[in-house]
Amino acid sequence: MEKNFIEFSNMKKEEVLEIIKLALKFKRDSYPSNALKGKIIALIFEKPSTRTRVSFTSAIYKLGGETIFLPSTELQLSRGEPIKDTARVLSRYVDAIVARVVSHSTIVELANHSSVPVINALTDKHHPCQALADLMTMMEYGGDKERLKVAYIGDGNNVCNSLVQICALVGVDISVASPRGYEVDETIKAQAFSWAKLSGAKVEFTNDPEVAVRDADFIYTDVFVSMGQELEREIKLKVFIPRYQVTETLMRLAKPDVKFMHCMPMKRGEEVEERVADGPSSIIINQAENRMHTSAALLCKLLGC
Ligand code: CP
Ligand code: NVA
Repeated sequence: MEKNFIEFSNMKKEEVLEIIKLALKFKRDSYPSNALKGKIIALIFEKPSTRTRVSFTSAIYKLGGETIFLPSTELQLSRGEPIKDTARVLSRYVDAIVARVVSHSTIVELANHSSVPVINALTDKHHPCQALADLMTMMEYGGDKERLKVAYIGDGNNVCNSLVQICALVGVDISVASPRGYEVDETIKAQAFSWAKLSGAKVEFTNDPEVAVRDADFIYTDVFVSMGQELEREIKLKVFIPRYQVTETLMRLAKPDVKFMHCMPMKRGEEVEERVADGPSSIIINQAENRMHTSAALLCKLLGC
């Protein structure tokens, strides 16, 4: 496996599946409590977080490691210290860096100048840690089926990009329905089609949610207004609601046993109806739990435990 975990472009299908397998083992059995003994992991956050911060922290403690939480406002980074200096200095103190940053270029620069592994805990372009937990969750709920299909409805954002990448890489069918102007990046689309030729995944991009959900085992959505997009809120809500909201009516157009997924946090009444979010088909809390197991497995693979 590569030194850093930034997105899926440099990963192999087998490496991803090994992480999921290890995460399933941790969940089923227990965590090896000395795996990260003596290791210190820095958590840099430029944006708020509940799941990512706490699941990484708990995973690290369960594996016997230590964490240092570093809100970026308390680092010299916020006063203009170059990313490369931060990366080189932190590499002398800690064994890995988990970072949630505004701009994807920041994590790339951090990784390029760091001698310890850097993990992307969300950027404007990718959220690969989320995608690991998403794949684990889909395998748990649909693992006995020959093929799996997820329909992602909504903004072609960071969460969507990583979901598209992981599905195309490992061979899960994915159909994305987004409004015009909010579609998945052309580069990610082209990459997905090319990876899908190898994995056998069926990849589709459409503007029509009703087309996307046909035969879906999972319907997935994310907020319409991501962190940092608050000024676009009114415009985006007008574009996305009501057509791209996950409703019971839309759920009925998928497979009868379709499950509802969301990376959370969510806005009930915006991207999803409350009765879907909290209904019997919703697997969001288990999906959130899996963030911890996949983070633990990822750390083990990167730090060699
Ligand atoms: N899904 C996710 O990354 O949640 P947080 O923003 O709470 O970390
Ligand atoms: N797309 C969302 C995901 C939050 C986990 C955001 O970037 O705010």
